[in-house]
Amino acid sequence: MKTLPPTCTGPSISLSQFARAFSAADDPSFADWPLPPGRLILTHSARVAIALACNAWNLGPGDEALAPAYNCGCEVDALLAAGLHVQFYRVDRHAQPDWDDCRRRVTGRTRLILVTHTFGRPLGLNDLGTWCRANGLRLLEDCAHALFSSHAHPPEAGRPRWEPVGGLGDAAVFSLPKTLPIPDGGILVLRDDTHGSAPNVGELRRADFATVWREALPLLKNHLVQRSTVLRACYGLLRKNRQDRRTVSPGDFSDMPASYYFDPALHRRRMSAVSARLATACQPTQIVERRRS
Ligand SMILES: Cc1ncc(COP(=O)(O)O)c(C=O)c1O
Repeated sequence: MKTLPPTCTGPSISLSQFARAFSAADDPSFADWPLPPGRLILTHSARVAIALACNAWNLGPGDEALAPAYNCGCEVDALLAAGLHVQFYRVDRHAQPDWDDCRRRVTGRTRLILVTHTFGRPLGLNDLGTWCRANGLRLLEDCAHALFSSHAHPPEAGRPRWEPVGGLGDAAVFSLPKTLPIPDGGILVLRDDTHGSAPNVGELRRADFATVWREALPLLKNHLVQRSTVLRACYGLLRKNRQDRRTVSPGDFSDMPASYYFDPALHRRRMSAVSARLATACQPTQIVERRRS
């Protein structure tokens, strides 16, 4: 495996790519991407996509969701923002859910089960999808880490060898900046409802450009730092200096940064056109090859 420079903290985006993305006129299409089947809704982030799915299914106060006890926090915050009460099911040290525990925790108020393909490793969901449908529950697959991940099937006539993650539940959400060098972007893949009423997504609001720019700056910084040895050395020194001076006093249990929460200002926000254009310029096959090497 290739070792990245020590100061490389993320993917890189170039000024010219950015400029091209700003000036491109065509509407980007995600049709060539290996995504599960369903209607694609482009959102600001995966957490916005989660809240949107709850809205589209008319879930809210009085309803309960089951979520994995090992989580990032912001996906749970998105469920809370949609008004749901959240209960947790057990997850083992290998990030594998305890499905028996999950099923045991279903109550008369449970409407939704959130499952997470943690670190992009596809979960074996076995018959969970069928079981959820039979019990009137919605299954939402959190594929925030799993863009371009796939389930491998043993060779069998008429069945594809690889299937994109996110095709087993009623919907799946993806977080693009976790894989691609873009400032914002989530995808909600929504399938036809098997629960009686059709999902109603409604209108999405325009992208929030202040946030997009704020997220774009670290990407541009990475681009510059990775391309110049001098800048890389200076940046390494600066970071070391900052880390050396950082002290944590005993009893300091400061809260998580705001970026770990669901920001109501971003609710129902669309993916920015810049991110959509940069994303569609990326080559999924190359990314998968690189990730596997
Ligand atoms: C498992 C999981 N789900 C959802 C999210 C939310 O992704 P986004 O930052 O695109 O809202 C995260 C973010 O870190 C995550 O780790």
